[in-house]
Amino acid sequence: MNNRIPVAIKGVGCALPGKVMTNDDFAKYLDTSDEWIHTRTGIRERRICANGENTKTLAIEAARKALQQAQLTSADVDLLVVATCTPAHPVPATACFVQHALGCRHIPAFDVAAACSGFIYAFSAAASMMTTTRYKYALVIGSEAMSSITDFQDRGICVILGDGAGAAILGPADDSVSGIYDQFLAADGSGAELIFVPAGGSAERPTKESVEAGRHFLKMRGREVYKFAVTKMQEVIQGAVDRAGLTVDDLALIIPHQSNARIIESAAEKLGVPMSRVAMNINKYGNTSAASIPLALEEAINGQRVKKGDWVLMAGFGGGLTWGSILVRL
Ligand code: UT7
Repeated sequence: MNNRIPVAIKGVGCALPGKVMTNDDFAKYLDTSDEWIHTRTGIRERRICANGENTKTLAIEAARKALQQAQLTSADVDLLVVATCTPAHPVPATACFVQHALGCRHIPAFDVAAACSGFIYAFSAAASMMTTTRYKYALVIGSEAMSSITDFQDRGICVILGDGAGAAILGPADDSVSGIYDQFLAADGSGAELIFVPAGGSAERPTKESVEAGRHFLKMRGREVYKFAVTKMQEVIQGAVDRAGLTVDDLALIIPHQSNARIIESAAEKLGVPMSRVAMNINKYGNTSAASIPLALEEAINGQRVKKGDWVLMAGFGGGLTWGSILVRL
């Protein structure tokens, strides 16, 4: 246990769009059913941005709640990182809009693009910067409007995605045990096109034709991603506890990226961890990419599912392909 970084989670917050889209809403216009979606994914409903809601507005709301819980103000924030693959605008970073809206000082504010592993990457980047600089408090947000890149006619993907945001304030640990004990990040770009938005960037610029062909929407080779996710989730969790000299039995809660209930249940079974120690809220929110881990973290902390002193492992995997984990003691 020599690798403790004395950076702790001081407050959490979340934001969800008001509009609920149920499986039956899809079944009204697509060849699908509540039964198919729920059996294959565990999802019953998800939130969808409407009425001006977007990655910025969700991030700002989640950040305000996290600040309030940490009993801090925007003036205390030294560093702001937003994880998103659906930024409000291509330029500038969503983090800059959040920095201004919150009234933060002229602090570093930047986005991290690591798809479903985004929150893990952002958390790790912030924690690492905090250990090498004078920054005391960091605001780390995962915010997504997946509906902005969803082809609502593609039943193979539209039923799994959802919108939302979660935020965490990182700050100095106030005792000698809480903190970050392990961080792990990885990527394998050979799988870049398994979860992929073909057009809209500089490689395939947005044109009338690209939009008409739906090439600005997210494409996913679901089966292949499924196999990757099941293997990686198990590997990432086992690796983190091994490096920390713990066993999975020491973990009060595992917070995996909410990709598919079957992926989570299968990995938990292989690890021998009961679902009572695994966070799962995909039934309500679907797969919200970088927002899914902070949304589940907020729910676990504010629902008193975890308490001070508990070991909590967050594990992400997704587009890139990317994966990673953060092991904290609350
Ligand atoms: O967050 C980043 C990581 N992402 C993930 O981890 C997602 C991983 N992938 C998955 O969760 C699953 O692959 C999906 C939920 C996306 C799809 O489930 P699946 O069991 O892998 O289905 P499939 O794509 O292999 O399709 C099986 C059948 C096909 O029909 P045929 O060819 O067997 O006749 C599909 O056309 O199910 C059909 N299908 C649907 N049927 C009803 C696909 N989507 C739907 C649908 N409703 N929404």
